[in-house]
Amino acid sequence: MRVEVFADHEALAQAAAAFIKDAAREAVEARGGFSLALAGGSTPLETYRLLGLDPGFPWGDTQLFWGDERCVSPDHPDSNRGAALGALGPPEALPQDNIHPIRGQLSAQEAAQDYAWRLKGFFVDLGRPAFDLALLGLGPDGHVASLFADSPGLAETDAWVVPVAAPVGVEPKVPRVSLSLWAINQARQVLLLVSGAAKAPVVARLRSGQAPDLPAARLRPQGELVLYLDRDAAGD
Ligand code: 6PG
Repeated sequence: MRVEVFADHEALAQAAAAFIKDAAREAVEARGGFSLALAGGSTPLETYRLLGLDPGFPWGDTQLFWGDERCVSPDHPDSNRGAALGALGPPEALPQDNIHPIRGQLSAQEAAQDYAWRLKGFFVDLGRPAFDLALLGLGPDGHVASLFADSPGLAETDAWVVPVAAPVGVEPKVPRVSLSLWAINQARQVLLLVSGAAKAPVVARLRSGQAPDLPAARLRPQGELVLYLDRDAAGD
């Protein structure tokens, strides 16, 4: 896992936006398109805002997905879809057909089946969810996407997408839909964005290599796993 530490949240967001743009350009040049799975939560929103303002981003060749979603309506403040598209703009250059949300307005079970079906259609040639880049945040308990310590989605090797019961100790306490760990690990690259002093303890555990049971410690993408931190999250 490659780790980079940035001075503050804004520097982290700028570096993350540059990383994503580089990944997009490489994917478009090498494979004709860029499939990006967005992270939920609040950390990546400034990164999305910066990306949405970048006229040089290859939006026309970018396909947007999500790593997880809360089972709420798209206009609910807890919606990852609503928060990300709000932060992105979304850019006029991003075709509506390139946006592939998880339908949080459905039940977790129905939304998981619906999203898996659409992912399998998009990745029909490869037979696996080979995202060019998957973005993730990190929960204080070490969860990524909506894969919590006791989630069946951690052990899944068949299901691409799993319904998740409302978590107990993690806000918002609503049912969710998440890519399984196996699906996340099909990505070419994973970029983990972590900011703030509240995450310093879990970041230290993750970096120690002494907490193999943390969901984040089980990330094994096909290519590079990159951890971007600000100084507060790095405990500096
Ligand atoms: C979610 C996210 C979740 C998030 C972490 C960090 O739907 O809640 O996918 O995995 O990335 O909980 O959240 P913050 O960035 O808000 O700290």
